[in-house]
Amino acid sequence: MNVAREPAKDTRRLRARYGEWAVVTGASDGIGRAFASELARSGMNVALVARRAALLEQLARELSETYEVACRVIVADLATQDGNRMLIKSTDSLEVGVLVAAAGFGTSGEFVDSDLDNEETMLNVNCLASLRVAWHFARRFRDRKRGAIVLLSSIVAFQGVKRSAHYAATKAYIQNFAEGLREKLRASNVDVLAVAPGPVASGFASRANMKMNGAERPETVAKGSLDALGRATTTRPGVLSKVLGYSLAMTPRWGRVKIMSAVMKGMTAHQTS
Ligand SMILES: NC(=O)c1ccc[n+]([C@@H]2O[C@H](COP(=O)([O-])OP(=O)(O)OC[C@H]3O[C@@H](n4cnc5c(N)ncnc54)[C@H](OP(=O)(O)O)[C@@H]3O)[C@@H](O)[C@H]2O)c1
Repeated sequence: MNVAREPAKDTRRLRARYGEWAVVTGASDGIGRAFASELARSGMNVALVARRAALLEQLARELSETYEVACRVIVADLATQDGNRMLIKSTDSLEVGVLVAAAGFGTSGEFVDSDLDNEETMLNVNCLASLRVAWHFARRFRDRKRGAIVLLSSIVAFQGVKRSAHYAATKAYIQNFAEGLREKLRASNVDVLAVAPGPVASGFASRANMKMNGAERPETVAKGSLDALGRATTTRPGVLSKVLGYSLAMTPRWGRVKIMSAVMKGMTAHQTS
């Protein structure tokens, strides 16, 4: 397993600013795993949350040996209420200062042909679990008068997207939620950040049945996001997400729907060929 060693710009500020522990959901793979590594490298202890226990245990061993931080493994299915309760119970005794809610997945293809149970599971993980953990930690952070909440949005969050209609809708929920929450919690010295990457090389594409070109590394997303924490409402880590974001900013919403649907058509072309 590769754990990056070169430090991001000023991640050492994270522990001083927010506290001793970070909770990272989706830490077994991809973006969440990269966040967990980066937070450990900044000197924070990390609680690693996902379903695949062996991957979490392995990461915990690696991070604690490399960075001499404490790690807590929490095996939980966040699609369920029990899983969310377990996360909250298992972190109650920790001085948590950062929440990164990176657990999530996507779907693609014709919505009417999709598996409704899978779509409901995605809604539960991407939205309901984010709501539950954000609600819980927002109250804790407000009471201790410091903390940070990082939520995973996407470039698909800013308009409807054909062939990924429901996934894009889950990310629009997160984007709007993060923007409002940031305004609300700013007065309590709590930072909130929406992370809106483009394609990222992780387990995401195969689960979503998408093919991605020019995908960013998860480490780029994690480092860029932690650099932006406390300085922005939304960050678009990676080149493609910045290019698309800025070039579409002045495009009317119907135009953005057309353009992003064309992008998604390319990412799902293999499904019909
Ligand atoms: N990759 C991209 O192109 C991209 C772009 C924009 C936004 N995003 C967003 O970034 C987030 C992370 O995606 P990723 O790229 O890192 O994907 P990934 O590599 O597939 O990782 C997803 C993580 O979520 C966890 N997870 C999924 N279902 C879960 C459940 N029911 N309970 C607990 N944990 C669960 C997985 O762990 P287990 O399987 O071990 O449970 C895994 O750790 C997602 O919200 C995604 O929408 C991704």
